Amino acid sequence: MADLTKEITKRRTFAIISHPDAGKTTLTEKFLLYGGAINTAGSVKGKANSKYAVSDWMEIEKERGISVTSSVLQFNYDDYCINILDTPGHQDFSEDTYRTLMAADSAVMVIDASKGVEAQTIKLFKVCVMRHIPIFTFINKMDLESRDPFELLDDIETVLGIRTCPINWPIGQGKGFKGVYDRDKKDVTMFKAVSVGGAKSAATTDYLVESEELKSEIGDILYDKLLEDIELLDGASDDFDQEKVDRGELSPVFFGSALTTFGVETFLQHFLKMTQSPLPRLSDEGVIEPTMDAFSGFVFKIQANMNKAHHDRIAFLRICSGKFDASKDVYHVQSGRKFKLSQPQQIMAQDRKVIEEAYAGDVIGVFDPGVFSIGDTITAPGKKFRYEGIPTFAPEHFCRLVQLDSMKRKQFNKGVTQLAQEGAIQIFQDYTLGLSEIIVGVVGVLQFDVLKYRLENEYGCDVRLEPLPYNYIRWVKDTSMDLNKLKRISDCKKVKDMNDNPLLLFANEWSIRLMLENNKDLELLEFRKN
Ligand code: G4P
Repeated sequence: MADLTKEITKRRTFAIISHPDAGKTTLTEKFLLYGGAINTAGSVKGKANSKYAVSDWMEIEKERGISVTSSVLQFNYDDYCINILDTPGHQDFSEDTYRTLMAADSAVMVIDASKGVEAQTIKLFKVCVMRHIPIFTFINKMDLESRDPFELLDDIETVLGIRTCPINWPIGQGKGFKGVYDRDKKDVTMFKAVSVGGAKSAATTDYLVESEELKSEIGDILYDKLLEDIELLDGASDDFDQEKVDRGELSPVFFGSALTTFGVETFLQHFLKMTQSPLPRLSDEGVIEPTMDAFSGFVFKIQANMNKAHHDRIAFLRICSGKFDASKDVYHVQSGRKFKLSQPQQIMAQDRKVIEEAYAGDVIGVFDPGVFSIGDTITAPGKKFRYEGIPTFAPEHFCRLVQLDSMKRKQFNKGVTQLAQEGAIQIFQDYTLGLSEIIVGVVGVLQFDVLKYRLENEYGCDVRLEPLPYNYIRWVKDTSMDLNKLKRISDCKKVKDMNDNPLLLFANEWSIRLMLENNKDLELLEFRKN
């Protein structure tokens, strides 16, 4: 028991979120270097040296050079065992990213110092807020021309609506970037670029802020500016408050440069101290503590056909309590079945290895015998509680899916159903015509290409996708409502999901408002808790 608590308290499970190109992959890679999980930079995302990224599982990813799926990386650093949930970097793959955030206990938000808060960060941030998890900010690329740091903080506070607390502060930027001031230790770490290619840590020198050496190193102008900034920060910015950080109300902010390895280890060390070990999770039988003896977890992602020859599916399981022991049976609450999880594996930096045990906080991949759906709970036999479901996030693009070869109806149905189960797409049917008109909804348009590609390559079905002019979906709260009785509909399509729940697709927000004005007893929901 003591061992269980020890194992769990040393774990940290977090997701890294950012807009594409802000430096998420580079930062992740530097973390792995510090943890000794990889030896050379460039192996996580190896465009430059032609090694594929760890998460490049699918052909389409290789073809397009983007990361479609999320991967999970585990490594040790100091006395910590760290699980990083990497999220798809491309703007178009947000639905999986959303779900990955449901498995994390905290999030690291990487922001490009020249750009500030960008679109994808806003979307992902909203999910973190919904979950009230701690959010840490790493402002990256300080070695390049960047925006004023006060302006960047202001951007985070106004656009995202979270208070910030800078832990360190940059001196100069771009070519004139000199280093960072540590607000707690009151000293300055000088910037020295270390290029990629194996060097683990940037060679740095520390000076106390009042030292003459510092003044002569950075020059009078930057020195005076630093003293002014410190005064302003001490007077105007929020003090560090661990409880506010825990509740996701205050984001500790760090400045650095992932590519040159500057500020990365400091960030990692602070982050590990400020963040928590696996958090308790809510179930229909109340809060489940991670240190509870019995094993439990939930499925947050399903990845099909990782091995094309076998049409296999891997379910990603976030362990929420106790210890997973591969030799013991588990209970799948949703199906009421008891079985052993086949070939449980941990996704390491460069490969996957079969594991015998894992603890609360860890994420494991298991072969799905075809029974798992996203959000399902798996427990030790004897426990029957269910974890809170994973919300269905609203798709933003819709197409009519037309099958070109009607002889292959069976494969087509199987393919569409499996892909929907995986959660890569959402499928709907016309409200009146039913299954003779299938509508597919996705969060990002690239998912349409993935759907077409996979139906053709894995299920042998040729399909045509006809774009529909809708971008908003709303669930009808009263599921027994007859949508044919709605009044004055414009720019709207009535559909049902596969469980016959009624939904409406709209072209714009204006038509949603009009619909609500004309139908006073109609209540619409933006996302549905499963
Ligand atoms: P992402 O995962 O968030 O999409 O970003 P990624 O780490 O791939 O970084 C995007 C680009 O920005 C990469 O260059 C990377 O080398 C660069 N970069 C990341 N951090 C820093 C930094 O601190 N300073 C500077 N100057 N550049 C940084 P690329 O040329 O697009 O890709 P690559 O060919 O180097 O992989």
